[in-house]
Amino acid sequence: MNSNEASDYFAVAFGGKPDVVASAAGRVNLIGEHLDYNGGQVLPMAIERRTWAAVRRRQSSPGSTATLSVAASANERERGEFDATRPARVGQWWDYVTGVAGALAADGLQLPQFEIAVVSDVPQGAGLSSSAALEVATSSALAALIGSSIDVKARAAAAWRAETQFVGVPCGIMDQFASAMGAPEHALHIWCDTARTEQVPFTEAVLIFDTAVPRSLRGSAFEQRRAECEEAFRLLRGLYPSLPNLAAATPEQVIAARLPAPLDRRALHVAEENRRVERAVEALRVTGVIPGEILFQSHESLRLLYDASTPELDWFVEHAANIDGVRGARLTGAGWGGCAIAIGDPEGLKRAAEQLPPAYEAAFGLVPRTWLTHAAAGTRVDVGLSSRNSG
Ligand code: GLA
Repeated sequence: MNSNEASDYFAVAFGGKPDVVASAAGRVNLIGEHLDYNGGQVLPMAIERRTWAAVRRRQSSPGSTATLSVAASANERERGEFDATRPARVGQWWDYVTGVAGALAADGLQLPQFEIAVVSDVPQGAGLSSSAALEVATSSALAALIGSSIDVKARAAAAWRAETQFVGVPCGIMDQFASAMGAPEHALHIWCDTARTEQVPFTEAVLIFDTAVPRSLRGSAFEQRRAECEEAFRLLRGLYPSLPNLAAATPEQVIAARLPAPLDRRALHVAEENRRVERAVEALRVTGVIPGEILFQSHESLRLLYDASTPELDWFVEHAANIDGVRGARLTGAGWGGCAIAIGDPEGLKRAAEQLPPAYEAAFGLVPRTWLTHAAAGTRVDVGLSSRNSG
């Protein structure tokens, strides 16, 4: 898929050309799970799957129109009308678009009514941040549409506010930041307490394995973990008043605090996982690769301490570990279904992609999907006002 397809779909939906086409990537998280909302560090990367938003100022009639065509199935085309200047949530996919328009307006951008056509090859509902990709692509497209110079971090932050405050999903900043600020051949090191970011060279291939487990439980389990972490932090803060956030606690502090179950396990995961991110970044900078055992340790911690895994994710990690050339594997994203990743040499990852799906299907009766990817670009304006005017 590319920006031409977004323009073509725009032409089918609205007639004529869009003023601007912008895109943003899906993401996987290499290490640092459930740390963003605990003030910790994370290391995601943008993947080679993107969402494109083609927009045009609407002059003829009031109200804005959004239309979506998802790559997987042309039948998924859905079209909605909304007022970009008075964003209201309606429980449809274009809430992400209206939410971003509202967030940008709150940042002082004067947005017109617009038409927007969206195409995407980010798998939906698989935990690869299709919603962040849509929000960030929209954010970049609308900013470009009015010639605003709002920077990429502010566009990512507006996308995050749309997700948390408008759509109402209580996620951390990782997904929108990775979708916006990912870069080819780099992982994105984010300190989520200050929103500082740094690019870390990362050129290896990553295998993504979608377990095809529906994500029905994900939302409620996620909210429950957030509440548990808040409570663990409140209790730890009673003992260590200068602690700025849960991720800053050392594993020793957590153990010494003897928190009630299951807060003890949740807090220990957060404290140890934060150190794993530091170790992974250090190894990456020195050797160019992430040691596989850090990924396995992260998975074990998510399984045993954070209760975020599933038999299907565990199956993948266990079986991937036995394949020659695979160095490490873990669930990625929230967990409770969705995707896992493996790293290793390209041949090993290819073997895993060939051998594991049939065995997985035989074991669970579910058809998994796999993608080999490299770190890719975050958001960009593919067709801008100036290129249209000059071309
Ligand atoms: C989801 C959320 C992210 C992050 C991860 C877990 O993907 O959207 O903000 O909390 O779970 O690391």
